[in-house]
Amino acid sequence: MKTLDNGTLTIKNVGEVVTLHGWVQKKRDLGGVVFIDLRDRSGIVQIVVRDGAEFYDLAASLKSESVLKVTGTVSERESKNPNIPTGDIEVEVSELELLNTSKDIPFEISDDTTALEDTRLKYRYLDIRRSGVTNNLVTRHKVTMAVRNFLDKEKFIEVETPILCKSTPEGARDYLVPSRVNNGKFFALPQSPQIFKQLLMVGGMERYFQIAKCFRDEDLRADRQPEFTQIDLEMSFVDQDDVMDLTERLVAHVFKEVKGVDVKLPLRRMPYNEAMDKYGSDKPDLRFDMPINDITDVFKNTEFTVFKNVIDNNGIINCLVVKGQADNYSRKGLDQLTDYVKTYRASGLAYLKIADEVTGSIAKVITEEELNNLKDSLGLENGDLVLIVADSKKQTVKVSLGALRCKLARDLGLIKEGHYELLWVTEFPSFEYSEEEGRYMACHHPFTAPLDSDVDKLLTDKGNCYSKAYDIVINGYEAGGGSIRIHSGEVQDKMFRALELTEEDIKEKFGFFVEALQYGTPPHGGLALGLDRLVMLLTGTENIRDVIAFPKTASASCLMSDCPNVVDEKQLKELGISIDKK
Ligand code: AMO
Repeated sequence: MKTLDNGTLTIKNVGEVVTLHGWVQKKRDLGGVVFIDLRDRSGIVQIVVRDGAEFYDLAASLKSESVLKVTGTVSERESKNPNIPTGDIEVEVSELELLNTSKDIPFEISDDTTALEDTRLKYRYLDIRRSGVTNNLVTRHKVTMAVRNFLDKEKFIEVETPILCKSTPEGARDYLVPSRVNNGKFFALPQSPQIFKQLLMVGGMERYFQIAKCFRDEDLRADRQPEFTQIDLEMSFVDQDDVMDLTERLVAHVFKEVKGVDVKLPLRRMPYNEAMDKYGSDKPDLRFDMPINDITDVFKNTEFTVFKNVIDNNGIINCLVVKGQADNYSRKGLDQLTDYVKTYRASGLAYLKIADEVTGSIAKVITEEELNNLKDSLGLENGDLVLIVADSKKQTVKVSLGALRCKLARDLGLIKEGHYELLWVTEFPSFEYSEEEGRYMACHHPFTAPLDSDVDKLLTDKGNCYSKAYDIVINGYEAGGGSIRIHSGEVQDKMFRALELTEEDIKEKFGFFVEALQYGTPPHGGLALGLDRLVMLLTGTENIRDVIAFPKTASASCLMSDCPNVVDEKQLKELGISIDKK
């Protein structure tokens, strides 16, 4: 059995006889002496085979990724390599056994490989050999270990919930599984264990958690996978503060255990409306400042038609102030920023460059008084760049400037590496109006409790009804979200009516669940953290695929095993399914 980790040998081991196992990362044959970098999960160590050894020819002929067992003596290197932890030593080989050979590899196993991601995903098992991917998986393991230890101490019980189940109410499209035994009927894969964890509370488990696989058929982004993992938890006899307190202590514990980073608690809390107003996002990145400023009032008497029309149409005029950057943005640079906000539906981006002589796209159309008001209210100084979006739709202004703010921070290098900013966003709206459906829909699932003060608005003032829902946001990512659930039958009934669900809908979709809630359901609430996103943040990658052993591509397929794929006619027949060939 392998007992030693190659990457752990240091100068302290000099003189010891060791047996190592691993893969040939690199071989250098200097004629008379062969140097091999032998890699295992822990790292690399240099081994040396000298002419005269009976296996010298074998060593000289070894190909990359051959698998070796070697025994030898640790010695101090003549020329040291400060770039690797084992760089002070090498192992003089006295026995060498070739355990296996390897075909020519399709790409070099190196962290600065130039191989295309598609190639790496096709040969993911080789990609995993790269230390970057290996270390990400190790970090992921450390996170789940830290989570399990913490929650166990807090009296949580880990319970598994079904994968073959009825549709869950998270709002994405379901992955369906046809049933052979019940021909024509389908299971849905869980979008989350939401219903089951609430049923566990009805079942008296009091504190549940699960490292749970979830499946959602939705448009993929850099931080989304069709199959992902949640750290899912639920607690009975709690209010919103209790769940948030527990969660932030859990997250702080993970940061400390895995990264050695101290997270200052309690975390800052920001109501949803403030996050949208100031940062144009329900997951604001607070690693840099640059808030959105409302300057509608400055232009309330404007003669400038574009702004005047916006104000007449109940719109708003907002801006960002980019301190000291006026001279760094050319016309071309500003055009690029304009194109960028247009992708968020803004109709344009006006700008001012503050100097003794102010210039910019609207410099000539605003009055001296307006300019002075702007300067005073925003504390403008020479050298500042002011970027303005005006629109009759408030959401368009906020969201486009929110996105622009993040782009500017990236472009201007305003974000320090290794800097974490965590916060809670709270008091989400209970409903959002769907133009498509022509009615209010639930922002979360329909079991999310409204604020006590808003229960009476459920049927009368949906646009102003807010919920006991909270998201934990880290560096501009939604790392987790949850809520206090409705446990009163009366409030649940109101909520269903607010969502315009008929008795039949309710019975069909959640009948068994609504029934369960009638048998002495304790007050309860919970939250789920996105494990993949948390590991992304801890490892500093921006691609969720980097932290998943066998991820899917952006088109939700696996290049390695070539799935999804067609199945046998026989299988389809058994399931009673025929494919409509287009
Ligand atoms: P929600 O839908 O907000 O809540 O999901 C919780 C967290 O899961 C992560 N997440 C994802 N990660 C990767 N790929 C995806 N496609 C994806 N979708 C979501 C996010 C998100 O914050 N049942 C509720 C939780 C609760 O109310 O307790 C739920 O699933 O980090």
